[in-house]
This record gives sequence, C-alpha cells and structure tokens, in this order.
Amino acid sequence: MFQVARNILVTGTNQGIGFGLVKELVKLNPPPGHIFATCMNPPGPESKALQNFASQHGNTHIIQLDVTNVSSISRAASEVESHLKGQGLNLLINNAGRNSHAYYLENVNQEDMLLSYKTNTVGPLLMVKEFLPLLKKAAKETTNDKVGSPKAVVVNMSSIIGSIGYGFDPSLTEMPPSYQYRASKTALNMVNACLAVELKKDGISSVLLYPGWVKTDLGLELAPMTVEESTKGLVKVIDGLDPSSSGTFLDWEGNKIVW
Ligand SMILES: NC(=O)c1ccc[n+]([C@@H]2O[C@H](COP(=O)([O-])OP(=O)(O)OC[C@H]3O[C@@H](n4cnc5c(N)ncnc54)[C@H](OP(=O)(O)O)[C@@H]3O)[C@@H](O)[C@H]2O)c1
Repeated sequence: MFQVARNILVTGTNQGIGFGLVKELVKLNPPPGHIFATCMNPPGPESKALQNFASQHGNTHIIQLDVTNVSSISRAASEVESHLKGQGLNLLINNAGRNSHAYYLENVNQEDMLLSYKTNTVGPLLMVKEFLPLLKKAAKETTNDKVGSPKAVVVNMSSIIGSIGYGFDPSLTEMPPSYQYRASKTALNMVNACLAVELKKDGISSVLLYPGWVKTDLGLELAPMTVEESTKGLVKVIDGLDPSSSGTFLDWEGNKIVW
C-alpha cells in the first residue's frame, strides 16, 4: 500500500472523475485514514450522491471549497487541519476544473478566459500554497513504508489538449481550439513544473495526470472511457509514483505525455 494513501484531499468531488476517485480511494487496503472530498455546495442537490456516499464511509469528510475563492480555500485548510489532529496531508489531488462552450474565436471573451484561468491554473496553485504546512508535515513523518516511496504528493489534473506537442497532432487539431480550456491547462503544466522544482527541498512531489477522455459533464457523452476505467488507472499510477516522477506528465496508464 502506498504511503500517500494515508490522508487524502480531492477537489471537485460531487460528480465526474472527482467522485470516481473518492469511490476508488475508499477501496484501498488498508483504507485511508481520512478522505477529504471537497465540493462547492455540499448541501445542494448536485452533491446528494456524494452526501449519501460519505454517510456510509466514516473516513470520508465533505468539505466546502471553491478553488476560485481564497477565503474558501483557507477555511477548508483549517477544517482539514482540525480533522487531522497533528497529522499531515499526504495526497492533494487538484481535480476541480472547468471548460466552457466558448470553443472558437468568435465566442472568446475576457470573463470566460479569466474564469478558466482562475479555476484550472490559479486555483490549484493556491491550493498548494494554503495546504503547504500540512503537506510539509506529511513529508516529515516517520513511517514504515517502503524506502523511496513519496510521503507527500500533489497531483494536478491536466489534459492532453493542453500539451503544446500534441496540439499539432492531426487527431487533436480536429478538436475545437477551446482557447480558455487548453491555455489554462498549458499554464497549469508550467505551474506544476515550477512546483516540482520548488517543493523538492521539502520532500514533496508534484505530478500532472491526464485522466483520458472520459464520459462526464466536461468530457461529454461521446467520450470513449468511463469514470471507473479512468479512476482505477489513475489510482494505480499514483500508487506507482516515486520521487523521480515529480515534474512528469503522465496519462491514466502511466505513459509519459509530451509537453
Ligand atoms: N472528462 C475528461 O475527458 C477530461 C479530460 C482531461 C482532463 N480532465 C480534467 O479532469 C478534471 C475533472 O473533470 P471531469 O471530467 O470530472 O469534469 P466534471 O464532471 O465537469 O467535474 C468537474 C468538477 O469540478 C468542480 N468545479 C468546477 N469549478 C470549481 C470551483 N471553482 N471550485 C471547486 N470545484 C469546482 C465541479 O463542481 P460543480 O459540479 O459544482 O460544477 C465538478 O465537481 C478536470 O480538471 C478536467 O479538466 C477531464
């Protein structure tokens, strides 16, 4: 069992890949101590399935968190800290993300571009900033886990369509430019590269994962993969991470993706 499965936080868990990850992570053996499943509106009807799920799993705590709102992030960090009672946070999965229907130049507007940056790029960075004390604490904990296994990991959920290299692949050029989405994920990739370098001294790894093209609200119904297929793969990839994985961009099968 991998060390980073001890105390885990996932953003954007009321639906899609985030909810799938929570369902996959509770199955780990031994089970994680705490899974913090965050969403924007816990009491709302959009979070009903997550509420039901958490009521059946004592280690799963629902926490309100809007990644575009700094006070919400810092409130969530305090709440998580009080649950952890002196322990650290081993795995932070920045999963929450947005796309919009502004697919082509004629639909591009400033507000929509900036909202995607706030959600997909700035949000994950501020999450790391606010949760850093808890990640550092996890990195320093003494455990019996296998030598070399990372103790504190940040996962940033990116997309192959944010890859500059793949952007010129004929199959991908058939997809709409979606400027706001692609550019915000490309920027997230650079944020991750910088985090991997800056957090190395603290023993914290930071990786980019691509979940595949998955049937969700964001991925749409025509996507070839189910949430379950994707999240099973993602958890396996996280399980196999070692400190040399920090700064890499991997898909749900662990294959490297070009920048
Ligand atoms: N599906 C794919 O094919 C695919 C491919 C590549 C990458 N990804 C990435 O995988 C991640 C998950 O996507 P998904 O397909 O599961 O999408 P999804 O089903 O649309 O779920 C996105 C989640 O993010 C939450 N969210 C949006 N804005 C937020 C904010 N400001 N603060 C907190 N949470 C927020 C949503 O909450 P609400 O439900 O309340 O809006 C929802 O829970 C995203 O980062 C996405 O870019 C997905």
